[in-house]
Amino acid sequence: MSPNSAAASPLDVGVLLPAAGRGERAGAGDLKQFRPIAGVPMLLRAVRPFARHPRVRQIVIALPQEHVAQPPEWLADLLGQRLKTVGGGATRAASVRAALRMLDPACTIVLVHDAARPFVSQAEIDAVIEAADRGSGALAAIPVSDTLKRAAEGGFATTVPRDGLWRALTPQGFPRQLLEDAYARAGDELDATDDAALVEALGAPVVLVEGRTTNIKVTSPDDFLLAEALAHG
Ligand code: CTP
Ligand code: MG
Repeated sequence: MSPNSAAASPLDVGVLLPAAGRGERAGAGDLKQFRPIAGVPMLLRAVRPFARHPRVRQIVIALPQEHVAQPPEWLADLLGQRLKTVGGGATRAASVRAALRMLDPACTIVLVHDAARPFVSQAEIDAVIEAADRGSGALAAIPVSDTLKRAAEGGFATTVPRDGLWRALTPQGFPRQLLEDAYARAGDELDATDDAALVEALGAPVVLVEGRTTNIKVTSPDDFLLAEALAHG
C-alpha cells in the first residue's frame, strides 16, 4: 500500500476552530460565522477542508455559549465524537484554550483555524501539518506586498520598510505539547490574536509557510462581497 493512502495515515491531528466571536465589525444581521456565503454558512466552509483531511481525528468548535445549547440545524446534524462544540470565552485566546481542553488526547498535532476564514486550501493545511510533524510551530502567512505607512504624530505618514514582513493567517499548527505549554504559560488575561505569538514567547521555533491570498479573513461588510466573488469564482 502506498504510504500516502488514507489507510496509512495516522489519525493524530486535532483541529480547534475559534468561532465564538460577536462579529462586531461585520455589522448587523446573523452572527458573522453563521452567515451564508453563496448559500453555505461561513463556519461550514471553514470546517469542511479539515473534515475531509485523512489525518484529522477530531474538530472542536468554540461557539458563543447560547449556540452550544442550541446550534443551528445544519451544524447539529454533523455533531458527534469527531465534530464537537464547546462554549468560547471573552477573547479569541480564551476560546482556543477552551477548545484545547476538550480535545481528544490522541491528537498529538493541533491546528488552529479561524472560523472567519472560509477559503482555506488543502495545500495550506498540508504545509502546516508537515512543519508541525518536524517539531516546530507553523503558520500560513503571506509576504507583505503593499508599501506600509505609519500614521505618525499630527496625522502625517511615514514609511515602514516591509522587508521580511508577512501577514499572519490561519491555519497555525503545533506539536500539541508546545501549544499546551504556551497556553499554560500565558495565564488567564492573555490577549494574543494568534496562537503562534504565544509559542514564539516560549522561545520555540515557528516557521512561516506561504499561504494564499484567497485565504481571506471575513471581517467587514465589504469582505462579504469579496467572499461571494471567491465562492462563485
Ligand atoms: N473568536 C472567538 N472568541 C472570541 C473572539 C473571536 O472564538 N471571544 C473567533 C471569531 O469567531 C473568529 C476568529 O476568532 O472566527 C477571529 O476573530 P475575528 O475575525 O476578530 O471575529 P470576531 O471577533 O467575531 O469579530 P469582531 O472582532 O469584529 O467582533
Ligand atoms: Mg475579534
